[in-house]
Amino acid sequence: MEKLHPLLGFILLTLICLNTAQGSNPRFDPWNQGSTLSIMHVDDPSSPFKPTKSPSLWEKALFEVGAKDEARLGYLNSLVGKRSWVPIASARQIIQSATYVVRANVGTPPQPFLMAMDTSNDAAWIPCSGCVGCSSTVFYSSKSTTYKILPCQAPQCQQVPNPTCAVAGCSFNVTYGSSSFQATLSQDTLTLASDNITGYSFACLNKVTGNSVPPQGLLGLGRGPISFLSQTQNLYHSTFSYCLPSFKSSNFSGTLRLGPTGQPFRIKFTPLLKNPRRSSLYYVNLMGISVGRRLLNIPAAALAFDPATGAGTIFDSGTVITRLVAPAYVALRNEFRRVISKRVSGEISTLGGFDTCYTVPMAALAPTITFHFAGPINMSLPTDNVLIHSTAGTITCLAMASAPDNINSVLNVIANMQQQNHRILFDVPNSRLGISREPCT
Ligand SMILES: *[C@@H]1O[C@H](CO)[C@@H](O)[C@H](O)[C@H]1NC(C)=O
Ligand SMILES: *[C@@H]1O[C@H](CO)[C@@H](O)[C@H](O)[C@H]1NC(C)=O
Ligand SMILES: *[C@@H]1O[C@H](CO)[C@@H](O)[C@H](O)[C@H]1NC(C)=O
Ligand SMILES: *[C@@H]1O[C@H](CO)[C@@H](O)[C@H](O)[C@H]1NC(C)=O
Repeated sequence: MEKLHPLLGFILLTLICLNTAQGSNPRFDPWNQGSTLSIMHVDDPSSPFKPTKSPSLWEKALFEVGAKDEARLGYLNSLVGKRSWVPIASARQIIQSATYVVRANVGTPPQPFLMAMDTSNDAAWIPCSGCVGCSSTVFYSSKSTTYKILPCQAPQCQQVPNPTCAVAGCSFNVTYGSSSFQATLSQDTLTLASDNITGYSFACLNKVTGNSVPPQGLLGLGRGPISFLSQTQNLYHSTFSYCLPSFKSSNFSGTLRLGPTGQPFRIKFTPLLKNPRRSSLYYVNLMGISVGRRLLNIPAAALAFDPATGAGTIFDSGTVITRLVAPAYVALRNEFRRVISKRVSGEISTLGGFDTCYTVPMAALAPTITFHFAGPINMSLPTDNVLIHSTAGTITCLAMASAPDNINSVLNVIANMQQQNHRILFDVPNSRLGISREPCT
């Protein structure tokens, strides 16, 4: 998605102009009402980020993103073993694949962005005018009457990595692999749906190298010290929910609902677990997995939460395909294959990162996969959340994979493909995560 087709420039500008008109009067923005925002998949036909050449199908895009997941899992795993310094916009938190975006406005008068939504990040950052290496959509701070740069003495400046006192104020550099970022710690009004959040602290990007940057900024929904949740505590009380639309969805049918108001009350909860080493992540206790009716025999250590090593299970909105540590994945895959083999004869092949693919039609034959969480609650995945079909529709794969094969790989990640068409409620004050089936299509 970082490769924007030049022809899209015009369309993008048009969208932005339309958006500015809506943004200046949020009440009339059809996509955003109250504290509820529409969520769009980046490959949604109405997305400015969708691939333009040879209209590619969802599935093709998804296969491409599957490769990006590797980088993200490396990132998530690198987090769990380390001490958290939870900055705004650490590079580790920036290098992500943005899968879902929401509309947000920044400044007065408001300037519109499609920001990537990411539950495993605390970062909030926006490409700013003059930024070298950013996309064409940037924030013009000089056009905002409410913009200010935070001074070095500001307490927030202590929470960014290696801050320096530039003439202008609090500035910082971040490097990650071959990428690096230079930003100014800034404040301005952030408008989400019809809520104005004044004095919102974010990283104003001045220079970016590397190519994994969501082009219009990042809205981190993690729960660390300087996160969106902590900055909007009085407004949203660290409570939000989303329903992610399917990859096949063709309109803004998903929603991000901020604050306790309007959240479903008929929803089942599992406790959220806290890992002091990685305060942003939303850990839960995954106790078992069933394929069909059979409860898999998975060694307890593969699922157990361990703050010391970071092991356990998280819900993440930024990873596409669920990854399980090897003993759990192998058990699941073997049982899945066994069930299929009893119903249809067909060779098993691999495709991209997937190791359980079939060329025979088997969608109707796939067993339900159920995650059993503490509570107890069961999250049963319909076929759409379990199978992925190749572009031509001739290959169907089990849409899960083993965690990357290295010693730091201790995390089970419940990813967005498996969460689609469920409402996931993050209730931080009560330390619980709600799950219910909801067709947001
Ligand atoms: C939010 O700010 C905009 C101007 O930026 C203003 O028009 C609007 O009335 C404000 N909304 C609320 C709910 O205060
Ligand atoms: C940050 O990066 C910029 C440009 O890349 C450079 O001019 C500046 O000296 C760097 N600052 C620090 C503290 O490394
Ligand atoms: C979006 O999808 C929903 C659910 O399928 C449907 O009810 C609605 O009419 C669609 N909206 C548009 C604008 O296509
Ligand atoms: C969850 O699944 C298990 C195993 O299939 C079953 O025994 C249990 O009754 C289910 N619990 C709920 C709340 O549905």
